[in-house]
Amino acid sequence: MSSTPYTFDTVCVVGLGYIGLPTAAFIASKGVKVTGVDVNQRFVDSINRGEVPFVEPGFDSLLRDVVEKELLVAQAEQVPADAYIVCVPTPFKGSNHEVDTKYIASAIDAMTSHLRPGALVVLESTSPPGTTKWMADYIIQQRPDLSLEEDAENAIYIAHCPERVLPGQIMEEMENNDRVIGGLTPRGTEMARDLYATFCSAELLMTDATTAEMAKLTENSFRDVNIAFANELSLICDKLDIDVWELIELANHHPRVNILNPGPGVGGHCIAVDPWFIVSSVPEQAKLIRLARETNDSKPEFVLGKVAEAVERKPDASIAALGLAFKADIDDLRESPALDIVDRLTDQYPDKPIRVVEPNIQALPARFDGKENSELTDLHAALEDADIILVLVDHSEFKNLDPKVLAGKDVIDTRGMIRR
Ligand SMILES: NC(=O)c1ccc[n+]([C@@H]2O[C@H](COP(=O)([O-])OP(=O)(O)OC[C@H]3O[C@@H](n4cnc5c(N)ncnc54)[C@H](O)[C@@H]3O)[C@@H](O)[C@H]2O)c1
Repeated sequence: MSSTPYTFDTVCVVGLGYIGLPTAAFIASKGVKVTGVDVNQRFVDSINRGEVPFVEPGFDSLLRDVVEKELLVAQAEQVPADAYIVCVPTPFKGSNHEVDTKYIASAIDAMTSHLRPGALVVLESTSPPGTTKWMADYIIQQRPDLSLEEDAENAIYIAHCPERVLPGQIMEEMENNDRVIGGLTPRGTEMARDLYATFCSAELLMTDATTAEMAKLTENSFRDVNIAFANELSLICDKLDIDVWELIELANHHPRVNILNPGPGVGGHCIAVDPWFIVSSVPEQAKLIRLARETNDSKPEFVLGKVAEAVERKPDASIAALGLAFKADIDDLRESPALDIVDRLTDQYPDKPIRVVEPNIQALPARFDGKENSELTDLHAALEDADIILVLVDHSEFKNLDPKVLAGKDVIDTRGMIRR
């Protein structure tokens, strides 16, 4: 192991979204010259004005500061640098939920002409086991003059360093979360550790690249399986007429039990996606992980069934749907089960007014265009008018709803907000 830390004068961060931009800004805040690269010109322009192109509390002043000091410059083209961090999307494709590596490939296509011997390339995007090695081979295909052999004169170094920050808490977590760092070779691991040590003051846990890839997927699969257990309990409790939230609260008093909360399904671009990367890699072995995904994905159907029962009881009733985001107090609708449920309700009941309350957005997303029966409205109006109240997201605004307003209405509470 090297005793002198590796230093990096220039870093190129490729992909300036929720993860890449804060990473670029944190490194720049330590005096390193960072070029941030994104194919989205709107993001590039916004960042160069010192404006964060998405919602992240407390991040604005850090970004403004590093842009003003010219430590972070955003642009569309990559440049020669001592280290590269790739933070592009890794969605899945096809019915087998395999990773779509096209964004990584295009990031590498634009990088290879700039790569110099001694450079470090870190893949930060969440990826199935083996993707970092695939990326390294893809680089060498285009630059056969470079080598992955540790001590070769023309060596480049490759590592994976997955991200586990929670959007909304990035200012705290970027610096203070422990990180898993895995190189393709020991020197790659050490170099990546020293790069992240410039801004991360927590533990930097060193391993190999495949284990690092699997660590990130394991964390999110653990949460997905735990939520699937809670969702299964919610179906069992529905049959047995038991309050599932009370049940879980009681069970969690056991010192070694910690069951997460059930809900209308699992959303977002991490927990609803990452476990599939394990399943698509080893389908024969990943039985429980697949079942958990399927259990969570089937929950919207159950919720729609509950609405159908309520409509049967009150055929003329109108519906209020509280929440569209994939979790509380954010505006992110990606992979949101609430969005899916409301969308399907508007199709199922074309003649029924469906009042949608989502305090974190200004307009309904494009998929509701032309759906005359849906309307974005405020909480008060929705509760006044509707006879069926469907709680889909535990936004702060929906806490402590007045029981008098709910009296006589059918309440379908997928989040345990309104306890009996
Ligand atoms: N957002 C999270 O909470 C989170 C947490 C942990 C890990 N991750 C992972 O981090 C990765 C990035 O996620 P994100 O949420 O920041 O995504 P994002 O969509 O917010 O940002 C990705 C950015 O990459 C840009 N991009 C795409 N192709 C490019 C290319 N060839 N060159 C330059 N820029 C390119 C896009 O324009 C976009 O701005 C994903 O693999 C994701 O799974 C995300």
